[in-house]
Amino acid sequence: MTAPDHDPLYRLEKLCRDYGAHRALGPLDLAIHEGERVALIGPSGCGKSTLMRLLAGLVAPSGGQILFRGQLLGAHDIRAYRRHFGYVIQSGGLFPHLTASQNVVLMARQAGWSRQKIAARLDELAQLVHLEPDQLARYPVELSGGQRQRVSLMRALMLGPDVMALDEPLGALDPMIRFQLQADLRGIFETVGATVILVTHDLAEAAWLADRIILLRDGLVVQDGSFDDLCHHPAEPFVSEFVRAQRGLMIGGAE
Ligand SMILES: Nc1ncnc2c1ncn2[C@@H]1O[C@H](COP(=O)(O)OP(=O)(O)OP(=O)(O)O)[C@@H](O)[C@H]1O
Ligand SMILES: [Mg+2]
Repeated sequence: MTAPDHDPLYRLEKLCRDYGAHRALGPLDLAIHEGERVALIGPSGCGKSTLMRLLAGLVAPSGGQILFRGQLLGAHDIRAYRRHFGYVIQSGGLFPHLTASQNVVLMARQAGWSRQKIAARLDELAQLVHLEPDQLARYPVELSGGQRQRVSLMRALMLGPDVMALDEPLGALDPMIRFQLQADLRGIFETVGATVILVTHDLAEAAWLADRIILLRDGLVVQDGSFDDLCHHPAEPFVSEFVRAQRGLMIGGAE
């Protein structure tokens, strides 16, 4: 799956993003390989969503660069690139004036898919995320938070992306629904086989859904490794503090 001497899916080189005088992210040097499942974790404001927006091509770097399959991200046709990039933004981001299914099929329509192809894909994805046709006919405001997240997932999956980028897809859900969606999400990742980049506040969720966890603080990587590495080989005291702060919430504990 990962050939070290091939171009990685993403290579971040001295990547920075500033807002005014404030450095939100970087400098970051990272490689993400095809098929990896990566969780970005860290305190609020540490730059997780900023990194996702940079990867999505929604904001430009203030310094450094992102290479996607060896090519400079800014040099790509960003519309074509976005078809590879299934993005669930932090707040879900569904259009309130469109029904769930209209939200899901929007990009496929823009890409010129036929009605039959769109209908078939819609059916397939509804089964994958466990939504019923009558739910898909509703407006976002008529759905529960968990159902809306499932719709956002369908929308991100519609074009069969190579990369699934999910920014706190399970934030603000009650624990039972969250648990169910965590289980479903892992199944979906296995079925879809895309590279996954996921933001979460929850270390147990990161460990369940990803093989590689990147812990950020103040826009910089503190540790990049497995759950086991973070628990048993912390790069610095902050990592242990972060793990300890979450341990009470984790089934089985961190040690
Ligand atoms: N459009 C913007 N204008 C100015 N500052 C911004 C903007 N977007 C983000 N920031 C700042 O950049 C920093 C990183 O923000 P970011 O949204 O990436 O954090 P985050 O890790 O996703 O946090 P959270 O876990 O709360 O979602 C924060 O200090 C934030 O205030
Ligand atoms: Mg965020």
